Amino acid sequence: MNRKIAVYPGSFDPLTFGHLDIINRAMTIFDEVIIAVTRNSKKDPLFTVEERVGLIKAAMKENSRAKVDTFEGLLIDYVHANKAKVIIRGLRAISDFEYELQMAQINRNIAKDVETVFLMTSVFYSFLSSSVVKEVSSLNGPVDGLVPPIVKKALDAKFGR
Ligand code: PNS
Repeated sequence: MNRKIAVYPGSFDPLTFGHLDIINRAMTIFDEVIIAVTRNSKKDPLFTVEERVGLIKAAMKENSRAKVDTFEGLLIDYVHANKAKVIIRGLRAISDFEYELQMAQINRNIAKDVETVFLMTSVFYSFLSSSVVKEVSSLNGPVDGLVPPIVKKALDAKFGR
C-alpha cells in the first residue's frame, strides 16, 4: 500500500493551537503526519528540543497516524529518509508568504520529488504565533485559548510562576 506521509516541520517553541489546527487538518488529508521539531533552529529557543517534543506529545490525543520526532540538518534529507513526499506548512497572513515561498522554492530546488503543501490557518488563529505567545506570557498576560493547558503550565514554570 502506498501510504501518504507528510512531514510538518518547525520550531514549535512552543506548540500553539494554531499548530494543532494545522496538524488536525493535515491528518484528514494524509495517512501519516510526522511533526518534526528542528534541532538546528537559528532562533534562541525558550524550550529545549526535548521539552518541545514532550509538550507536543502531551497535547496531542493518542493517534497512531501522528508521530512526533526531531531532525537535524537539511529538511529534505529528513523527508527522504522517512519516505515522505510532502512538507506541510501553515500560512497565516500575507506576511508569512515571502519566507514560505522562499523556503518552498529552495526545497523544491534541492528535491523535485517533494511538494510543499500549504494549509491556511483558521482565521481564529491567524494572529497567533509562538513568538507572541512567549512575549505575552513573559509579561504575565493571558494565553488561555491560544495554547493547550499543558503548554500554559510550562510557560508559567519558565517564567517563574
Ligand atoms: O517554525 P519555523 O522556525 O518557521 O520552521 C523553520 C524550519 C525548521 C522548517 C526551517 O528552518 C528548516 O527547514 N530548517 C532545516 C534546514 C533546511 O533544510 N534549510 C533549507 C530550507 S530553508
